[in-house]
Amino acid sequence: MTTKADDVFKKLISHCKEYGFIFQSSEIYDGLSAVYDYGQTGSELKKNIMDYWWKSMVQFHENIVGIDAAIFMHPTVWKASGHVDAFNDPLIDNKDSKKRYRADVLIEEYIEKLEQKIEKEVEKAQKRFGDSFDKKMFLETNPRVVKNREKIEEINSRFVKSLEAEDFQDVKALIEELGIVCAVSGSRNWTDVRKFNLMFNTQMGSLSEGASMVYLRPETAQGIFVNYLNVQKTGRMKLPFGIAQIGKAFRNEIIARQFIFRMREFEQMEMQFFIKPGHEKEWYDYWKEKRMKWHTALGIPAGKFRFHDHEKLAHYANAATDIEFNFPFGFKELEGIHSRTDYDLGAHQKFSGKKLQFFDPVANESFVPYVVETSIGLDRMFLAVITHAYNEEKLDDGSERTVMNIPPVLAPVKIAVLPLVKKDGLSEKAREIFDELKYDFMCQYDEKDAIGRRYRRQDAIGTPYCITVDYDTFEDNTVTIRERDSMQQDRIPIEKITGIVKKRIEVRP
Ligand code: GAP
Repeated sequence: MTTKADDVFKKLISHCKEYGFIFQSSEIYDGLSAVYDYGQTGSELKKNIMDYWWKSMVQFHENIVGIDAAIFMHPTVWKASGHVDAFNDPLIDNKDSKKRYRADVLIEEYIEKLEQKIEKEVEKAQKRFGDSFDKKMFLETNPRVVKNREKIEEINSRFVKSLEAEDFQDVKALIEELGIVCAVSGSRNWTDVRKFNLMFNTQMGSLSEGASMVYLRPETAQGIFVNYLNVQKTGRMKLPFGIAQIGKAFRNEIIARQFIFRMREFEQMEMQFFIKPGHEKEWYDYWKEKRMKWHTALGIPAGKFRFHDHEKLAHYANAATDIEFNFPFGFKELEGIHSRTDYDLGAHQKFSGKKLQFFDPVANESFVPYVVETSIGLDRMFLAVITHAYNEEKLDDGSERTVMNIPPVLAPVKIAVLPLVKKDGLSEKAREIFDELKYDFMCQYDEKDAIGRRYRRQDAIGTPYCITVDYDTFEDNTVTIRERDSMQQDRIPIEKITGIVKKRIEVRP
């Protein structure tokens, strides 16, 4: 990440907090790592992303239906799906104390100590220089600080690289090279790094009743697979058909950084498309194109997205690609499109002993359908939208504004209704308009402060249209409509507001 992109990303994170998009979970207790809450503005944006996805996948496709499966599932589901055996991250033990650690946490704590050293240097210098202390300059030039900062970056990049490559030997080598000791025994006598399962688990039922262990689902897809037959039969679905779902997923992630990019509790929007074996190539290509269109139809430049075809395929897939987005920290996975063959239904058939097949009356044969999956992280889509949207603009008159150029269809608030001044009946007229528009759009009414400041507040949350009521409104029943991105203002009749805004925010991917 370049320093500039890094700075902008930091500013975006503070902006998200300041304007009610995203808060750290349990912030008053110093937060919970990699868990976030969506605030009053963010939850609207998140809901609009969900609606845009649900409409495009379910409402616009006659042969796709939606479900809402439970988060808890029978533990054997995760045995069948392969998650119990193969959904892992690295663990390390100290041979003397027998204490077990997560290898990544040991390294993170080492980095944290370096950060604290930097903080201490700053505090010392602040005391020494008093009011004349220039923190920015100090951080950039103090040799001890610069050395520690470089060390942090070096460790971070090697650590992430080895974890991503599952090079556990190098993770252990790094722990040894850094001289990390066990907090209990004080020794550096470490075992090799081994894999650790990413699934969270908990007990269902009280212990006296003989509780059983259940998992918090690490993906929503399995809720679709186990309901394949229920939906196919009750919905009288014929191949090809799809089942879509939006819901929470949980992973005890190791590299849980970069804000909401990798979270421990997150949401997925997944669709499994069931097809006749032999047709997977054509449907895989179809969904690749369709999903890319879904992204670019929002008006986000096509250059921000790219496909990354997998060369190394998972054991269940015969083709897989990621739609990557150019985040401030580079191109990273936003969505996965996978041709999963009959792996999942076949495995559930085997483990449950129930037939999960489709009877084709034309060919007079039964078979386990193949599946093409589209899987996108809702929170990651949220991050893609806001990183694209956040802009600091210098205006022609020399002033500056921070504007969220959120695609209008996704904007948390669609219209702000503003009386030019709060006297002479303008407020009452504006309220009357607001009370009509609120049935069609998420609106805000605001009469506090000068009109320019109110426009800026709406720019900061990405409201695409501001309707201003002024004295002329009483003369000719018109208002001004201000467009967020161009800041252009036009006069329109009140009765046309709904039609104009509806047309402008509509997207048909
Ligand atoms: N059913 C297939 C599946 O779960 P995945 O690539 O592991 O595939 C799909 O996840 C999508 O879910 C990713 O492309 C990403 O957008 C999102 N995702 C995965 N792990 C995530 C995490 N820890 N935090 C936020 N989003 C995540």
